[in-house]
Amino acid sequence: MKNYIQINNKINSFNEKIEVSGDKSISIRCVLMASQAIGLSKIYNLLESEDVMNALKAIRKLGIKYRKRKNYIEIQGFGLNGYLTKKKIEIDAGNSGTLARLILGLLVNVDNYVTITGDKSLRKRDFSRVTKPLLNFGVNINSKDNKLPVKIIGSKYLRPINYYEKLGSAQCKSAIMLASLKAPGITKIKAKKSRDHTELLFKNLKIPINIKRKKHYDFIEITGQNNFSGFDYYVPGDISSSAFFIVLTLISKKSKLIIKNVNTNKSRIGLIKILNKMNANITFKNKREYKGESISDIIVKSKKNFIGIKCPKSLNSSAIDEFLVIFLVAAKAKGVSTFNNLSELNKKESPRLNIAIKFLRMIGIKVIRKKDNIKIYGNPNLELNDFYEINNFRKDHRVFMMSCIAALTLGGKWKLSDKDSVNTSFPNFFKIIKKLGAKIN
Ligand code: S3P
Repeated sequence: MKNYIQINNKINSFNEKIEVSGDKSISIRCVLMASQAIGLSKIYNLLESEDVMNALKAIRKLGIKYRKRKNYIEIQGFGLNGYLTKKKIEIDAGNSGTLARLILGLLVNVDNYVTITGDKSLRKRDFSRVTKPLLNFGVNINSKDNKLPVKIIGSKYLRPINYYEKLGSAQCKSAIMLASLKAPGITKIKAKKSRDHTELLFKNLKIPINIKRKKHYDFIEITGQNNFSGFDYYVPGDISSSAFFIVLTLISKKSKLIIKNVNTNKSRIGLIKILNKMNANITFKNKREYKGESISDIIVKSKKNFIGIKCPKSLNSSAIDEFLVIFLVAAKAKGVSTFNNLSELNKKESPRLNIAIKFLRMIGIKVIRKKDNIKIYGNPNLELNDFYEINNFRKDHRVFMMSCIAALTLGGKWKLSDKDSVNTSFPNFFKIIKKLGAKIN
């Protein structure tokens, strides 16, 4: 079967209400935490994407049973020592950096070797950012060139660590937090701000955690070796998936969209803050709190006059997965937009900073790059007529979906390969985009 799509027409104006699938970060965390709880957990609205399926397969390999019920997934945990690792086990995390890094944290007490591997894209990514601090707990970890496959064997004599997380990476912070559950005593973490879903889950599960939030850093202390009980959780919609439709609406003509039940946690809404600074008018309605997470309906309308932004780097971490679509708005804005310190963007499923620059230049936008800082020279009259082909992007789901939004709003004829990549994070992408009226062949 063909694994590409063609888009030859812009989307017509629309006025719709949609709901996107469950948040990927929270879904993976719920699966992993449920696998370590004592007793039954029920996860509703779990994202059914490849990354999350790989998390379920991973816990099954470790002897944890799950069952799909009508509208939830049931997971039976046996506590912090509950993984069965009698024989050597290999876990394939597929495309998911979050799964591979977080589960390493949970393996610090296993009594046999577990190997973590992944797909071609994940095997190119650096793992020293988690293996180095994990070693300090007293475990044994082997890898070649700090890449997957990584082999880990735990220890009975773990010790708590002091860890300084400097990258603003929630994956690194969370891997250490999960490992700290197993170590006796208090693990202390100073972490540059990043998404805090793990912290909120810990609090909600009554795991002894103390958090002091400062302007740029959080100081976290966790007391280990405290089991917690199974739990129920309803996963809210994913703002990173919503981002594609938010930008689609903004840069289409005369359209309006309501996206219901989206996770609008403060550590995830950099996209909204950045776009509103660029003159968008995105608002939240029905704001409510659920287990410490903030949830809202997002309302967005088309706009014509975007203005360039000097993006504060303090917003980088809270918009890290959304920069690809933010750059599309910068391409349509009046004036120059500046984004600084984006090195982390090149450490994702594909080197997204390099790819974004190539993409913007391909559609005729001037971009100047100095190290990890870029200037995008917007063109409010941007209108495309040529043929564009997108391939060779390491099947990065977000590059694919961003390209769809460009094709549906900027004109021209497009051929986009690896449509299956949406299954990584957002299998419903095509269903929703067709509901909005997109014509895709
Ligand atoms: C994630 C953290 C971010 C993000 C990724 C999901 C998480 O990665 O890009 O898609 O769930 O913790 P980093 O921690 O590497 O920034």
